[in-house]
Amino acid sequence: MAETTAMTAAKIESILQENRLFEPPLELAAKARISGMEAYRALVAEADADADGFWGRLARQELDWFRPFEQVLDWTNPPLARWFVGGRTNLCHNCLDRHLDGPRRNKTAILWEGEPGDVRRISYGELHREVCRFANALKARGISKGDLVALYMPMVPEAAIAMLACARIGACHSIVFGGFSAEALRDRLVDGQAKAVVTADGGFRKDRKVPLKRAVDAALAGGACPSVQSVFVVRRTGEPVTMVPGRDLLWHDAVAAVDDDCPAEAMDSEDRLFILYTSGSTGRPKGVVHTTAGYNLWAHLTFQWIFDIREDDVFWCTADVGWITGHSYIVYGPLSNGATTVMYEGAPRPSNPGAYWELIQKHGITIFYTAPTVIRAFMKSGRAMPDAFDMSSLRLLGTVGEPINPEAWMWYREVIGAGRCPIIDTWWQTETGGVMITPLPGATPTKPGSATLPLPGIAADVVDAEGNSVAVDEGGFLVVRRPWPGMMRTLHGDEQRFRKSYWEHIRPADGSHLYFAGDGARRDRDGYFWVMGRVDDVINVSGHRLGTMEIESALVSHPAVAEAAVVGRPDDLKGESIVAFVTLEAGRDGDDTLLVALRDHVGEEIGPIARPDAIRFSDALPKTRSGKIMRRILRAVAAGQEVSGDTSTLEDRSVLDGLRVPDGA
Ligand code: WTA
Repeated sequence: MAETTAMTAAKIESILQENRLFEPPLELAAKARISGMEAYRALVAEADADADGFWGRLARQELDWFRPFEQVLDWTNPPLARWFVGGRTNLCHNCLDRHLDGPRRNKTAILWEGEPGDVRRISYGELHREVCRFANALKARGISKGDLVALYMPMVPEAAIAMLACARIGACHSIVFGGFSAEALRDRLVDGQAKAVVTADGGFRKDRKVPLKRAVDAALAGGACPSVQSVFVVRRTGEPVTMVPGRDLLWHDAVAAVDDDCPAEAMDSEDRLFILYTSGSTGRPKGVVHTTAGYNLWAHLTFQWIFDIREDDVFWCTADVGWITGHSYIVYGPLSNGATTVMYEGAPRPSNPGAYWELIQKHGITIFYTAPTVIRAFMKSGRAMPDAFDMSSLRLLGTVGEPINPEAWMWYREVIGAGRCPIIDTWWQTETGGVMITPLPGATPTKPGSATLPLPGIAADVVDAEGNSVAVDEGGFLVVRRPWPGMMRTLHGDEQRFRKSYWEHIRPADGSHLYFAGDGARRDRDGYFWVMGRVDDVINVSGHRLGTMEIESALVSHPAVAEAAVVGRPDDLKGESIVAFVTLEAGRDGDDTLLVALRDHVGEEIGPIARPDAIRFSDALPKTRSGKIMRRILRAVAAGQEVSGDTSTLEDRSVLDGLRVPDGA
């Protein structure tokens, strides 16, 4: 971790120059749920004075309980937390059933637009019925409370329906992003011991059809995942599919065979709700575990606070349900609040580059939440495209997934928001369940490039390796000092790794437990957080989180490769791009054919998002005398910088001469 301080110092320099401040629009502030900084500070003070009282009050107020909880938080055995102990509730009930008694029954819950332009509006009443049906279809296949159901889906309403159906009957879902390969899917199915898979014949992705069912077949081939007994297949693209008798069934047939009466299971607050795999700095992807009540409260509250949601809002988050952003802000946060959530199957693509802006105009979208990489891509192609659409319905703009550079922030504000909409830069992670550091639209003055302040109750800080808060404007590690309801509970099947990855890097002398996020940050004199990116071996490519070790393992599994080291290189569009340094087995030539073969190989092992942008063949990699690859050096080489700092531990200095990455290689 210490290796990264040099990198962050340069970034600190550049953001220290940023002095612009934007106050919340007066009209918005006047009507906001959290109106003005006084109101924000009052909530912070309430939470700081009595955290249990604060969370307990909100949990009782915001969620329906089948049985009240007896204790707000059990933190007697940190870092293992238990929230709302003894309570019983159901996330699906909170997202659907409780909205059915009034006018929301007929309100649009999901407004879905398919890539070819087909539209579905599903009301809360209809969604409830469809969820109950699919829940019964799962039950008919012997799936019950505690079982794991994997979803490998395109962005169709059935993805949300399947999630909610799992939550309804207490099955735990594990969504695998539809862009991951069959290999990656197989690993996750085996790790979670999935009993069923929900998929589709295919999905549309940027003018192509992706054959999802075929990938599921490949993942299950040869009895690789014996736990999987059922595969549900949604018809979407019309691709031909092979159905394995006794195992595979069409969604359509499955729901036709059952009725729509399915009571929501009374789940213990701490019953497992979902597993979501994410990349870490070592080894295989980590299965982040979230549980029922705490996650529900956090997705619900953050959505309500951050987007200052009103009854007539049309909210659109452009993420995929395969990522945490899709879980919390396409499905659970919006529905728990009775909001209208837009789900879009497509993406801007050559045949329709204006798709996003057209959608905002067409559906009168009021709140738009996307990733900085999307904004940078549009910025590059100029403002004529967005200017051609009427986006006056917008009132709030959010970003998530990676640091946003001040230029992109300003462009977003001026061009998409017409200078009228607050920019809400939200920092959080798969592990945190929901947003942690963010402006509140009716309260927080914003600065371009800063995620501003922690939400009430969130004890975020920037510290040194011993857990001491660092001085103003000094870089350090981003941590959270107190537990919060939406925190991950463990890593599936690997409590040791959970402890080690998040709770043991930073060890304060007083023995308290700090959650270490893996990010570097700095706080300015106003207490604003400036998140600077990962300080571990995780890279962030277009808002997608990838472990360099995972990509290295994929490369090394190719017969031509002896050794590989992967680093991120700063990229104007994607935030970071993937650069791989590879040494080959004796007798292999590093030619263009091999280069293409290696990129494809990584695509097959993990998925297209992990394909290296550049591969540099080299005779040797820079190592310490103890054989550790010196990534700091490789990062500098990849970025085209002089190798500075201490290289005295480098075993063989001549290795440096053989490394240089040709652009676009
Ligand atoms: C990065 C996505 C700067 C960060 C919700 C974090 C950000 C990782 C921001 C989590 C932001 C996310 N500013 N960096 N606003 N939001 N990150 O688990 O490095 O896919 O640790 O969750 O994304 O990625 P994940």
